[in-house]
Amino acid sequence: MTIAKLDDYNFRNKRVLIRVDFNVPLDKEGNILDDWRLKESVPTIQYLLDNGAQQIIMMAHLGRPKGEVVENLKMDKVAERFSEILGQDVAKTDDCVDIDLPYGRIVLLENLRFHKEEKSKNDWERQEFAKKLADYADYYVNDAFGTSHRKHASFYEITKYLPGCIGQLVEKEISIIGDALAAPNRPFIAIMGGVKVSDKLGAIKNLLKKVDALLLGGAMVFTFYKAMGKEIGKSKVEDDQLELARELLENSDNKIMLPVDVIAAVEPDAESESDVYSIDNIPKDLMGVDIGPETINIYKEIIRKAQTVVWNGPMGIFEIERFAVGTNEVADAVGECPGITIVGGGDSEEAIKNIGIADKITHVSTGGGAALEMFAGKKLIAIKALEQNYEKFKT
Ligand code: ADP
Ligand code: 3PG
Ligand code: MG
Repeated sequence: MTIAKLDDYNFRNKRVLIRVDFNVPLDKEGNILDDWRLKESVPTIQYLLDNGAQQIIMMAHLGRPKGEVVENLKMDKVAERFSEILGQDVAKTDDCVDIDLPYGRIVLLENLRFHKEEKSKNDWERQEFAKKLADYADYYVNDAFGTSHRKHASFYEITKYLPGCIGQLVEKEISIIGDALAAPNRPFIAIMGGVKVSDKLGAIKNLLKKVDALLLGGAMVFTFYKAMGKEIGKSKVEDDQLELARELLENSDNKIMLPVDVIAAVEPDAESESDVYSIDNIPKDLMGVDIGPETINIYKEIIRKAQTVVWNGPMGIFEIERFAVGTNEVADAVGECPGITIVGGGDSEEAIKNIGIADKITHVSTGGGAALEMFAGKKLIAIKALEQNYEKFKT
């Protein structure tokens, strides 16, 4: 299937509606904690400016406001910061639909999710909403990789009404992740961590088919240990996934690697007593909070020799500095790996940035859920919609 790219259209004197992912992390007062996603959106906007677009209408969401106006989730601060980054005025509107657009060349619509129609389960509601958005423009661009796994009006329905294409960020994300999975240089290894096996099951299953080894960390390893009949103390576990963990272990051709030692603590907090334990000796009253030093050495050795690495999910409770060692050491090794390295996942991305090695990674994805869907071998729904859009609007 073909998908249109920016170069396929002549945007001169045209109005372009672009879906961007400006869903940046905020503090309690609604101040922006990290503007990386805004920066990653610049190249496509700049392309549209350089190619003579008459007006660029950006649409985005912030947080999960459930169809109502939430003061802290208004887009004003995002508009202000994006304007500073781009070095151009950005006119922000007070609503995203039923408004007269301002005259500015670059416009940012108010949070799409202030209207329940954006995410409505009802197709017709989403379509009516998308039609109103489509009325603003001649062309549609999707440059919001991080939300492209959502069947929302601004991604899915909108492609029925305007000729569209992907922007540079989406193109970069899907080609780097897609190519690495389709034709990896070997050894190809995946590293998965985080809390739940169930959240990452699709990715684990698909990656197991492709990788030479899958290194596991985070709380999810305790579900595997319990499935193997080991004592896991008070560690986090998914009791309803034990059977599945057993099946995965049995059918993985020994590709699944589990830690040989862990850091276990009384409580998951900074003051709590903690020590290193072999996985056969986890005390009943302690919980696993990080991978141990021997595991770190084994994992680092494997990562350094890999030619392709895909990583999702921290190795421990990395928000607490004492329990961030495993995650940081693994991150370091991924940074040193000479092969193609890809990191996807909100917390994994944060971990990489905490230790300042993002520039040593081939590709840090702007999408958590979207990257996981790609790791699971699925085509993102917004990408499928644009492939159909190409068929519909090609001349
Ligand atoms: P990502 O956002 O990169 O996909 P996840 O959201 O799946 O990652 O997982 C991140 C969370 O996993 C972090 O909040 C971290 O504290 C938690 N975590 C990792 N290891 C453990 C553990 N041993 N026990 C409890 N929580 C853990
Ligand atoms: C994200 O931050 O992962 C994307 O912007 C999608 O947001 P959502 O999970 O609220 O749909
Ligand atoms: Mg997360």
